[in-house]
Amino acid sequence: MSPENTGPAAVIVLAAGAGTRMKSRTPKILHEIGGRSLVGHALKTARALDPQQLALVVRHERDLVAAHISALDPEALLVDQDDLPGTGRAVEVALDALDALHPERTLLGTVVVTYGDVPLLTAGLLAELVTIHEADNNAVTVLTAVLDDATGYGRILRAADGTVTGIREHKDASDEERAIREINSGIYAFDAAVLREALAHVTTDNAQGEKYLTDVLGLARAAGGRVAAVATTDRWQVEGANDRVQLSALGAEHNRRLVEAWMRAGVTVVDPSTTWIDSTVTLDEDVRILPNTQLHGATTVARDAVIGPDTTLTDVAVGQGAKVVRTHGSGSTIGAGASVGPFTYLRPGTVLGETGKIGAFYETKNVTIGRGSKLSHLGYAGDTEIGEDTNIGCGNITANYDGEKKHRTVIGSGVRTGSNTVFVAPVQVGDGAYSGAGAVIRKDVPAGALALSVAGQRNVEGWVLSHRPGTVSAELAQAAGATVPGLPAEDPATAAAPAHKDSSSTPAPTEEGKQS
Ligand code: UD1
Ligand code: MG
Repeated sequence: MSPENTGPAAVIVLAAGAGTRMKSRTPKILHEIGGRSLVGHALKTARALDPQQLALVVRHERDLVAAHISALDPEALLVDQDDLPGTGRAVEVALDALDALHPERTLLGTVVVTYGDVPLLTAGLLAELVTIHEADNNAVTVLTAVLDDATGYGRILRAADGTVTGIREHKDASDEERAIREINSGIYAFDAAVLREALAHVTTDNAQGEKYLTDVLGLARAAGGRVAAVATTDRWQVEGANDRVQLSALGAEHNRRLVEAWMRAGVTVVDPSTTWIDSTVTLDEDVRILPNTQLHGATTVARDAVIGPDTTLTDVAVGQGAKVVRTHGSGSTIGAGASVGPFTYLRPGTVLGETGKIGAFYETKNVTIGRGSKLSHLGYAGDTEIGEDTNIGCGNITANYDGEKKHRTVIGSGVRTGSNTVFVAPVQVGDGAYSGAGAVIRKDVPAGALALSVAGQRNVEGWVLSHRPGTVSAELAQAAGATVPGLPAEDPATAAAPAHKDSSSTPAPTEEGKQS
C-alpha cells in the first residue's frame, strides 16, 4: 500500500493466458511494439492511474514473464493463477493475494481490471472509466466498443431501457445475442466488495468450463448494484494482440499515433509512413526527420538536428543542430553541430564532440572524439581517444586488436594524419603531430613531429613498355614519351620483345614497388 498514491485501490492486469496463436517460444506479452513489450505498455498505462496496488496475474511461461516484470516494474505484485481457468479465477486469485498483503483489513474501493496484451489503451481513457464509475457510484463499469464484426467477443446485454444487464460470451450466445455488435473490451472498474462477493458465486457452468469474470455483472445487478458501460469509439484502444498479424497492425497504429503526436509537438516528419519511433525516444522542437528513419530505445534528439534519410539510431543522443545522414548507430553520443554520414556505422561507446565529423564509410567503436575533430572518409577507429581540431586523413585505421587483447590509441589535438595511416595500438600521438601518407605508427609520436614509416619510392623506368608490350598502358606511356633505358625510343615493339624474355635486364617490381 502506498498511501501517497491517490488513484484506485488496485489495478489487476491479467496475463496468465497462453497466447498460442502467436506460435512463438516467446510469451505473447513479451512481444514488442514501439520498443516496449505488450505487458510493458499495459503496466505503463496502469501505473499512470497511480493505483495503491498493482497486481499482474501470470501462469503461462511464468518465470520468463516474472523476470521481465521484475526488471520493468519491481513494485508490481506477481500473482500465480492456479489450475482453475478463466478471467474470473484470475481476478479472484489476485484479490486474495492483495488482501493477504494486509491481513488486518480487506481491500476497499475501486479495482480496475485490464489485460496485459492490449497495448494501445491510454491512461486517459482508463482514468475516464474510473471517474465515471466513482461519480455514478457504480458496482461495475465496463469499457465497451461497437465493432462491425464482433465474432469471438463477449456481447453486452442491455434491457429495453438501455441499462446493462450482463455479458454473454460468444460461445454461450444465442444467434440473436450474436447479432449484438457492442462488445466487452475486458477492461472494467469494480467496487472491490461487490467483486469479491460476486466472484465467490461465479461457477464454471458454461461452454468453456471456465470461471468467467463477465458473470460478475449479472450477479452485481441481481444484488442491487448499478452496472454501467462506457463505450469508446476508438477501437484500437481495446484491441488485443492475439497473433502476429494483429501485433503488426497494432505496432503500425501505435507508431502512427506517436509520430502524429511528435509532429504536433513541433517535430517535422517528412514521411510518417516510413518513420518508426519507439515510445521511449524523446525529440525536441524543430527536429527534422527524413524518410526511412528508425529511432529506438533511449535515443534523444536535440533541437534543430536533422536525422535521415535512411538512418537507424538505437540509444543515441544527438546534439543540437547535428546532422546524421544514412547512418546505423547505437550507444553513441553525437555533439551539437556535428555531422555523421552518409554510410556510417557508429558502434557503442562512440562520443563525437561538438562540430566534429565522422564521414562516409567510417566505423567507430569506443571512441572519444574531441570538439571540431574530423574523421571524414573511409576508416575504422576503435578504443581511441582523439583530441580537439584534429584531422584524421582518408583511410586511417586504428589496429586496436592484436588477436587476443584490445589496446588504446591516443591521438592529441591539432593533429594531421596522412591518408592510409595505421595506428598500431597501444600508441600515442602528441599534439600538433603529423603523419605521412601510408604511415604505420608503431611507436609513440612526440608533439609536433612528422611521422614517416614508408620506405622511399623507386621508379623502374620503361618497365611497362618492356613487360606489358602491346597493351593500352604501353601505347599511352609511349605516346607520353616513355622509353626503355638503353633502347631507341621509336620502336617499343622490337625493344620489348627481347627484354621480356630476359627479365634480368629490366627488373620486375619488388614488394616495395607493388606497394607504391
Ligand atoms: C474475454 C472476455 C470477453 C471479452 C474478451 C475481450 C471473459 C470470460 N471473456 O474473452 O467477454 O470480449 O476477453 O478480449 O472474461 N486470462 C488470465 N487467466 C485466464 C484466462 C485469461 O489471466 O484463466 C487473461 C489472458 O491472458 C488475457 C485476458 O485474460 O490477457 C483475456 O483472455 P482471453 O482468453 O484472451 O479472452 P476471452 O476469454 O476470449
Ligand atoms: Mg479465453
